[in-house]
Amino acid sequence: MKILGIETSCDETAAAVVENGRTVLSSEVYSQIALHAQYGGVVPEIASRKHMEKISLVADAAIKAAHTAKGEIDAIAVTAGPGLIGALLTGLSFAKAAAYALDIPLIPVHHIKAHVAALYLSTPSPEPPFICAVVSGGHTLFLDVLSYDTVRVLGSTKDDAAGELFDKTARVLGYPYPGGKALDELAKTAAKDTPRYPLPLPKFDDAPLDCSFSGLKTAVINTVHNTRAKKDESLDTAALALSIMDAVSYIIVSRTVLAAKLHNRRTIALSGGVAANSFLRQELRAASAAHDLELFLPPLHLCGDNAAMVAAAGYFDHLGGSVAHLSQNAFSSLSPEVDMAHINSR
Ligand code: KG4
Ligand code: ZN
Repeated sequence: MKILGIETSCDETAAAVVENGRTVLSSEVYSQIALHAQYGGVVPEIASRKHMEKISLVADAAIKAAHTAKGEIDAIAVTAGPGLIGALLTGLSFAKAAAYALDIPLIPVHHIKAHVAALYLSTPSPEPPFICAVVSGGHTLFLDVLSYDTVRVLGSTKDDAAGELFDKTARVLGYPYPGGKALDELAKTAAKDTPRYPLPLPKFDDAPLDCSFSGLKTAVINTVHNTRAKKDESLDTAALALSIMDAVSYIIVSRTVLAAKLHNRRTIALSGGVAANSFLRQELRAASAAHDLELFLPPLHLCGDNAAMVAAAGYFDHLGGSVAHLSQNAFSSLSPEVDMAHINSR
C-alpha cells in the first residue's frame, strides 16, 4: 500500500511516499527556517502562507521522486494536530482535496504518533510495546507505545519543551533560530571535565514522569545576563552549553528509564527533533547498557519534522481502521491518545 504523507504542522512543508509503512520511496522537505530566523522564531501567519505557496509543488516533487503515478497512490495521510492551526489547515485542506480528487481514503495523523512512527522506517526498528521519549521544539512526552496505533501518555513537560529551552538559550548566546544544533556543537568544544554552571533539575514527587524546563531556561538566561554584567567575570559559553546538555540529558534519560521500570518494558526509544542531540543519544546509550534495556534511536534525517513519518503513522492507523470524513478538522492541541478519525465530534 502506497501512502502519500503530508506534514505542515509548523515550519516544514513536507510530502513523502511510503510503502506499507516501512519503505520510504521519497521524502521531500521544504524548510522555512531561513524565513523565520530573522524573527527569532516561527511566525504562524508567515508559516501558513508559505505552506500554501509550497504544498502542491512539494507533493508533486514527492510523487515524482517516488516514480509513482498519482493513480497508484492508495491513501493520503495528513497531520491534523497538534501544531499551528493555520499551518495545519493548509496541509489538511490540500490533503482533503487530493483525496477527493483521487477518490482514495484520507487518514488523519497525530504529529506525536508520527514522530514515534519515524522509528518504524529504520532497520532494525522497535516492536511495541516500548517506552518512547518524544522530544522536540514543541513537545516533551514520555509514552508507553502499546501497539503500532495506540500510545499512552505516562508523563510530559509541565511548561516548555526541551527544544524550546535549547532554542531560547541559544538565542541569548547569539545563535539564530533554531539554535539546538548550534548549542550541541558548542557543547562539544568544552572539555569533558570543565566545571559546570549550577542549573536546577526540578522533579515532582507526585508525578515522577513529568518534567519542567522553564526554570532551567530562566536560570540559563540569568546566568548569561549576570555574568555579562560583572566586569571581572567572563562567560564560558561552551561550559554553559555543556551544562545545559547535562541537565536536559539527565531529565530525559532518568524519566525514560524510570518509565521502563515502572511499566515493565525492556525496550526504550527516542524520537522528535531533539533526538538528533548527540549528548542525549550518548547518555541514553549509556543508560540502556547500564539498565539492560534495548534502545532504538532514529537516524538523524528522520528526527526532525518530515512527511515520511506521517505516511508511516497513517499506514498503521489505517490498518486499525482509521479513515477521516471530509469534514475532518485540525486541532492545535491534542492528546496522542485520541482517536484521530473521531475527534470532530468531541
Ligand atoms: O521535531 P521538530 O523538527 O519540530 C517540532 O515538532 O517541534 O523539532 C525541532 C527542534 C528544535 O527545537 C531544534 O532546535 C531541535 O529540534 N534540534 C536539536 C538538534 N537538532 C534539532 N536540539 C538539540 N540538538 C540538536 N542536534
Ligand atoms: Zn515535530
